Amino acid sequence: MTSLGTPLSPHATRVLLLGSGELGKEVAIELQRLGAEVVAVDRYADAPAMQVAHRSHVVDMLDADALRAVLDLERPHVVVPEIEAIATHVLAEYEDRLRVVPTARATQLTMDREGIRRLAAEELGLPTSPYRFVDTFDAFREAVAAVGTPCVVKPVMSSSGKGQSVVRTPDDVEASWRYAQTGGRATATGDAGVRVIVEGFVEFDYEITMLTVRSVAGTVFCPPVGHVQVDGDYRESWQPAPMSDAALTAAQAMAARVTEALCTSSDRGWGLFGVELFVVGDEVLFSEVSPRPHDTGLVTLVSQDVSEFGLHARAILGLPVAAPAPVGGPGQGAAASCAVLAEGTGIPVFDDVAAALAVPTSQVRLFGKPSVDGGRRRVAVTLARGAGVDEARARARESAAALAVRLA
Ligand SMILES: Nc1ncnc2c1ncn2[C@@H]1O[C@H](COP(=O)(O)OP(=O)(O)O)[C@@H](O)[C@H]1O
Ligand SMILES: [Mg+2]
Repeated sequence: MTSLGTPLSPHATRVLLLGSGELGKEVAIELQRLGAEVVAVDRYADAPAMQVAHRSHVVDMLDADALRAVLDLERPHVVVPEIEAIATHVLAEYEDRLRVVPTARATQLTMDREGIRRLAAEELGLPTSPYRFVDTFDAFREAVAAVGTPCVVKPVMSSSGKGQSVVRTPDDVEASWRYAQTGGRATATGDAGVRVIVEGFVEFDYEITMLTVRSVAGTVFCPPVGHVQVDGDYRESWQPAPMSDAALTAAQAMAARVTEALCTSSDRGWGLFGVELFVVGDEVLFSEVSPRPHDTGLVTLVSQDVSEFGLHARAILGLPVAAPAPVGGPGQGAAASCAVLAEGTGIPVFDDVAAALAVPTSQVRLFGKPSVDGGRRRVAVTLARGAGVDEARARARESAAALAVRLA
């Protein structure tokens, strides 16, 4: 039996979100629907999930003492990391007192590209691109020569394409190294530089996210999500991604293995994972995995009876999760999402929401990010359904184009 309490009472089921972006906001809403008491944490005020939580705290989550202080203050039953930039060793210290989603070890292994890549490729023997890890310029040059060009370079601690570049010719080597040194989360210490992965460029036919849910009832999958990335950052996604039966079977088997390996003991490790895979013909290569809802999975807000956020909320509260059912009547067999970006500095204002919603089947989610501080930031997403992937994508794109965002 799983009992859930009443928020703001001595019987509350308290859940603490570490990271409070747009994905955390949807998780918070789903947790609220199940009567959880939700506390949102991020390093800046008024983050999207904070706006729908019971309480919030502004904390530098890479600061171990600051993280311990908020855990001691709130004494949550469940801690839900939404980002990778967390002092994850602190979560391991607390794991005897509270549940870390999916496990402290999984958050440690996936916060660093090296941990998860070595687990998948070397321990599990899953096929991946060829790769090397290096932390000096000389070793980097050798690694590029060994892996061959084109190759993809990423800081081991980075996300959303930050610090990531493609080396196409030997002339790109220096600029690529310099960008990786400054674009990621870590800064260099001592003589070594920031550690990077050099990966062979995979000429994939398409890439997918296999949303995989581990719950008390076992492992289930969502239909595959196809996506397009620009400069390592997600722009569009759709579901279901057309795949051969052989590729789908291989993708599910790989997702089951890697999520199982991240969660070694059976009474732990509940939650939704985004397993990123490259597909070439019927062959599937493992790329990486997020032990949490994935940005490309925003499409599930309109494609499934329970979105990836709802599935995550159920699983982490210890409830059994069944495979989601597709929604959408005749002529709506596919769904798509399109990211809306703002570039510059200021507070987002959305000028033509009505036009965005005039596109058939379209919906919007305006994240409520308090500001854009230079550079490019995702501030909203449009969602639509259609008879097939092409129609759904065209509608989501049309809706995004109509949603005029300005920074005031
Ligand atoms: N080895 C590779 N070959 C081809 N494309 C790649 C490779 N690695 C990454 N990419 C592209 O860059 C995107 C982002 O890379 P990823 O490793 O997922 O970084 P992040 O952690 O920032 O999401 C991928 O979804 C894919 O489109
Ligand atoms: Mg990725």
